[in-house]
Amino acid sequence: MDVVILPGASDAELFTARLIAAQVKAKPDAVLGLATGATQEAVYARLAEMCARGEVDFSRISSFNLDEYAGLDGNDRNSYRYYMNHHLFDHVNIRKEATRLPDGTAADPEAECAAYERDIRAAGGVDLQLLGLGNDGHIGFNEPMSSFRSRTRLVVLSPETLRQNGGYFDPPESMPHCAFTMGIGTVMDARKVVMLVTGARKAAVTAAALEGPVSAMVPASALQMHADAVTVLDEAAASQLKLREYYRAAFAEDPRWRNLR
Ligand code: GLP
Repeated sequence: MDVVILPGASDAELFTARLIAAQVKAKPDAVLGLATGATQEAVYARLAEMCARGEVDFSRISSFNLDEYAGLDGNDRNSYRYYMNHHLFDHVNIRKEATRLPDGTAADPEAECAAYERDIRAAGGVDLQLLGLGNDGHIGFNEPMSSFRSRTRLVVLSPETLRQNGGYFDPPESMPHCAFTMGIGTVMDARKVVMLVTGARKAAVTAAALEGPVSAMVPASALQMHADAVTVLDEAAASQLKLREYYRAAFAEDPRWRNLR
């Protein structure tokens, strides 16, 4: 696991956008795994700016999102389909038909989840998976105790997640209690994983995920077993990491990061 610590949230967001842009440049028909959440909004804004300047071309890119609320269709302002259109897809030259999220309104959830896994495989697998980190340690909507081998499925959201995301819903009680999510096994199959975490609120769960024991209690800790994972942090989110000095030194000296700094 590489850990990149940058001074502020905007530095971390820009760096993450550059990592994604570098993937798109290296493989113009790459398959991106995309994430939602407040953390990613600025990443998508930076990508939209790069696209407008002609620095990155999404015309041959396809994408699969991590998750979607059960029961919400794409026109619902709280659906992740709406979020993705609003924050990214409407602002870059990606083909909408090449963007996929689980269908929250699927009549047969099991069939939808099987089809999602099939579609990812048929596309050649995810080249780069973007992740955020939930307050309870979730990635996608893989709540604590999700199996590290789990695949795309319908899950019940944790009380912590209902608290974290309830504020987006009016009233908060109208937030769905279930969601479709790629599994941890699905995420781990991605060739490269980029997790972005910002803010002091996430410092404790970031330390648990990166430096704590690998445990289903902290789903993001599974990434310690991924062969090509990088976590991008601002100072606030990194503040409880024990090896902060080492991560800074590695980032400064490792030539892989030279063009992205
Ligand atoms: C939601 C998403 C997660 C995301 C998390 C982080 O719960 N399902 O994939 O990681 O939000 O949220 P935020 O960036 O708003 O803190």
